Amino acid sequence: MINIPRGTQDILPETSSQWRYIESRLHELMAQYNYQEIRTPIFESTELFARGVGDSTDVVQKEMYTFKDKGDRSITLRPEGTAAVVRSYIENKMQGLANQPVKLYYNGPMFRYERKQKGRYRQFNQFGVEAIGAENPSIDAEVLAMVMHIYQSFGLKNLKLVINSIGDAASRIEYQEALKAHFKPVIHNYCSDCQKRIDTNPMRILDCKVDRDKPEMKTAPAITEYLNETSKAYFEAVKAHLDRLNIPYVVDPNLVRGLDYYTHTAFEVMMDSSDYDGAITTLCGGGRYNGLLELLDGPQQTGIGFALSIERLLLALEAEGIELPMHNHIDLFIATMGQSADNYAVVLLNELRHAGIKADKDYLGRKLKGQMKQADRLAARYTIVIGDQELEQQQVAIKNMTTGESETIKFDDITKYINGGL
Ligand code: HAM
Repeated sequence: MINIPRGTQDILPETSSQWRYIESRLHELMAQYNYQEIRTPIFESTELFARGVGDSTDVVQKEMYTFKDKGDRSITLRPEGTAAVVRSYIENKMQGLANQPVKLYYNGPMFRYERKQKGRYRQFNQFGVEAIGAENPSIDAEVLAMVMHIYQSFGLKNLKLVINSIGDAASRIEYQEALKAHFKPVIHNYCSDCQKRIDTNPMRILDCKVDRDKPEMKTAPAITEYLNETSKAYFEAVKAHLDRLNIPYVVDPNLVRGLDYYTHTAFEVMMDSSDYDGAITTLCGGGRYNGLLELLDGPQQTGIGFALSIERLLLALEAEGIELPMHNHIDLFIATMGQSADNYAVVLLNELRHAGIKADKDYLGRKLKGQMKQADRLAARYTIVIGDQELEQQQVAIKNMTTGESETIKFDDITKYINGGL
């Protein structure tokens, strides 16, 4: 038997209907916020992520699915969406569009070679948003408000919005120096990756999964102490908007995020529930990226966005015991007695489906009792039983499965009846 690859999952029909519900709700919400969908390829040039996400990040160093194609190009299955959306923005010269900022969203599979864990997969589905072309605290606040609105619209309550500012490039240079000085005397006790990070990108030490419990991690200087006046003012303005919107948040000066492109606002939404034991508690993450477009040879534009995985959203719903209001019923089940009735049902079913009715019948030659059980399993709203008499009279008793009441109607009137027009 060939098994599914490690870290991936089949989404079976019962769960895929939850996915469809979530995705259609997300499309509706995006229309409310005036964001438009973008679809980029599943694979991109490796260089896009090496440069965009950052050569010294775990994502690029350890987690990418990279291969040579038959033309000897290095290709990578996308580990995230931001670099690709920014590439597309630049390539399609979206800075020239009349509508600015350009507000985009995407929804699709991403790939990271990670250790399998509850809530952590090697193929996962990110829904993400990128607003490019405005450096204004009110758009940061819009994106934060949208994230919370998304989760709340599915009924989630135990959420914590954690925010930080990681400042502009100038603030970070000073901060990186402070981190180097802090870790230098003890770096020999740290993993080999951190020993490299101290020179290449000391902020990544704070994100190390191996050394995270070392004492110097807790006493490390916080970026907030190194923010310059511009960065501080920007952060204050974002927080003031959140206050105006009555959106509760916690400031965590140690939140640095795992990707290199962030500047100023960085945030995560966490599950704030003790029932969520053992699983990953970060539901989504995002932030502002002011230098990314130029880094990818684009115009001087800035952006902000976030991404969440539908897998973790589903885990959070499960942890809070929330059932999505889905309607998995069919409209009509046709039970038959005898071959002529079954032949008739084949045609009737076809007509009803063309008229927009969700309908089904038996295919296993079940007895009438078995057919009615099948109707129950399919949660049919109505059932009919066709036998010789019904065929002769061209009418049938249609039973409302909720009320138990029956009414005799003509075959030709079934659609109208189900649609409430009879
Ligand atoms: P990220 O924090 O790497 O950010 O991922 C964002 C979210 O994707 C996570 O919070 C989580 O919900 C989900 N996720 C990540 N890895 C996995 C995994 N292995 N299994 C399941 N879910 C996962 C980004 O990717 C940025 N591009 C977000 C962003 C957009 N920043 C600005 N714009």
